[in-house]
Amino acid sequence: MPIDPRDFTRAMARVPGPVTVVTTVSPSGERRGFTASSFSSLSLDPPLILVCLDKNASTHEVFVDTDRFLVNVLAQDQSGVALRFAASGTDRFAAGDMVPCEFGLPGLAEATARLACSTHEVLDGGDHSILVGRVETAHSGDSAPLVYCDRSFARPAPAEPALAATR
Ligand SMILES: Cc1cc2nc3c(=O)[nH]c(=O)nc-3n(C[C@H](O)[C@H](O)[C@H](O)COP(=O)(O)O)c2cc1C
Repeated sequence: MPIDPRDFTRAMARVPGPVTVVTTVSPSGERRGFTASSFSSLSLDPPLILVCLDKNASTHEVFVDTDRFLVNVLAQDQSGVALRFAASGTDRFAAGDMVPCEFGLPGLAEATARLACSTHEVLDGGDHSILVGRVETAHSGDSAPLVYCDRSFARPAPAEPALAATR
């Protein structure tokens, strides 16, 4: 018996994830971007990350064809940016907070991290495509990251001193 998709999504909602806005520029020079929490580190050597994009998303075609993209890891006060880059049928860049960053791609100066990637591979992942990026530059900011869990945004709790010492 196939699993009830509601059981699957309910269980996955319990898994905390990062909140990123992934951006690129189309061949005609249009800025494109989407909010994604399916972002993960994949390999250290070579340095690879992955992010999964819905095949029905309006941005899908541009991202599977691009040779470069930028992952902006959102800071704890950037939930508004996350919602804006998840909204359909609007100009996600109209707020003017995206500035040219690595490779000249649109990025957030105040992101908690930015990873500029060349497209390593695009894999099939069911109803999503898996964008595998080779990390060309990595920028780390100072602010704490935004977290998505139980369909809400959260801030990470400070680590216990003993745990922080193990990092
Ligand atoms: C917190 C959050 C995380 C999301 N994560 C993903 C994701 O990992 N992959 C994805 O394809 N869409 C994700 N989405 C949805 C997209 O941001 C976007 O809403 C969807 O691609 C529809 O956009 P469209 O109007 O361009 O088709 C997420 C949305 C939110 C609010």
